[in-house]
Amino acid sequence: MINVGLLGAGRIAGVHATAISSHPSSSLIAVADINHAAAQTLASSYGCEVRDTEQILADKSIDAVLIATSTNTHSELMEQATAAGKAVLCEKPVDLDLQRARECQVRIQKTGQPVMIGFNRRFDPNFAALQYALSEGEIGKAELLSITSFDPAPPPIEYIKVSGGLFKDMMIHDFDMANFIKGEAPIKLSAIASSIVNPEIEKAGDVDTAVVTMQYLDGSMAVIKNSRRAAYGYDQRLEVLGSGGLLQAQNMLENTIVKSTENGVVSAKPTYFFLERYMPAYRAEWDAFMDVITQKKDIPVGMDDGVIALAMAEAAKLSLAVGEPVELSKI
Ligand SMILES: NC(=O)c1ccc[n+]([C@@H]2O[C@H](COP(=O)([O-])OP(=O)(O)OC[C@H]3O[C@@H](n4cnc5c(N)ncnc54)[C@H](O)[C@@H]3O)[C@@H](O)[C@H]2O)c1
Repeated sequence: MINVGLLGAGRIAGVHATAISSHPSSSLIAVADINHAAAQTLASSYGCEVRDTEQILADKSIDAVLIATSTNTHSELMEQATAAGKAVLCEKPVDLDLQRARECQVRIQKTGQPVMIGFNRRFDPNFAALQYALSEGEIGKAELLSITSFDPAPPPIEYIKVSGGLFKDMMIHDFDMANFIKGEAPIKLSAIASSIVNPEIEKAGDVDTAVVTMQYLDGSMAVIKNSRRAAYGYDQRLEVLGSGGLLQAQNMLENTIVKSTENGVVSAKPTYFFLERYMPAYRAEWDAFMDVITQKKDIPVGMDDGVIALAMAEAAKLSLAVGEPVELSKI
């Protein structure tokens, strides 16, 4: 049995607690959160103890730590946990500061402990099947990748203020998805963006709608479209045009009923948000992390993936500021 400590007891920690508790080879031993009440609530739901982070890290019987705290704590906690001999699964993004993330990468490498980054969308069954079909050459060579990623509604302004901005908080998933599908990072990125959903987001110094185009060494391209609002729900689609055809991953719908009448043909909306849409992916992500620990499998998404996605977010931010394409190697 792999004994697990959970750091953080917020929104996403609850999702991970479910995956940890329902896996046959892992046991959730303790949770820590600076918000003691949040830790207490999670602990009573999952039958684990409330401890502080230091106690969890000092406990030799705890094999692995899942970091689901606020983003500004990730690097520090990854360094502490790996130094204490724990395997780590850490939520995205690695950090808000690229330099700090690179320092963290070097420090954790020295410990030799496995570290996986929580880019859960790689474990979505549809996206994984699309990536596999492309890698098997089923549509020839990828020429144009399109990623659509729209949230149903913007988060509270208080969240926006500490999120690190749309590119690091939201589009970071799509940067990683592009790297996953293409099997490489782009050489050049170009961004346009504005706040057209909510003027308060602009006042907070962020954008809510953005398009990033990317070019690869072989001349192929990708486009990522993000919006913090889609009236019909959570829109998460992929499309790859290849030399021999097209691959598309469509939205998951609330149900599969299609109503056809003289007025037209109507289907259900996409599942509401990430908790609903990606629940199977979060479970598969935990399964993969457990395989790394128990079967010594390769880490499917590691610190290098986390750092490169953060560099792409930084490049997109810079491109928006200077109004020109930015080469990733310059970041
Ligand atoms: N992969 C995904 O789909 C996904 C989805 C949502 C959030 N996230 C990421 O997960 C992280 C948490 O997001 P959330 O939405 O759950 O936020 P949240 O605010 O609901 O929860 C974060 C929790 O961390 C606690 N915390 C902060 N600093 C701490 C510290 N030093 N020690 C212990 N606890 C501490 C807070 O008190 C809070 O309870 C963020 O980095 C976010 O980017 C990922």
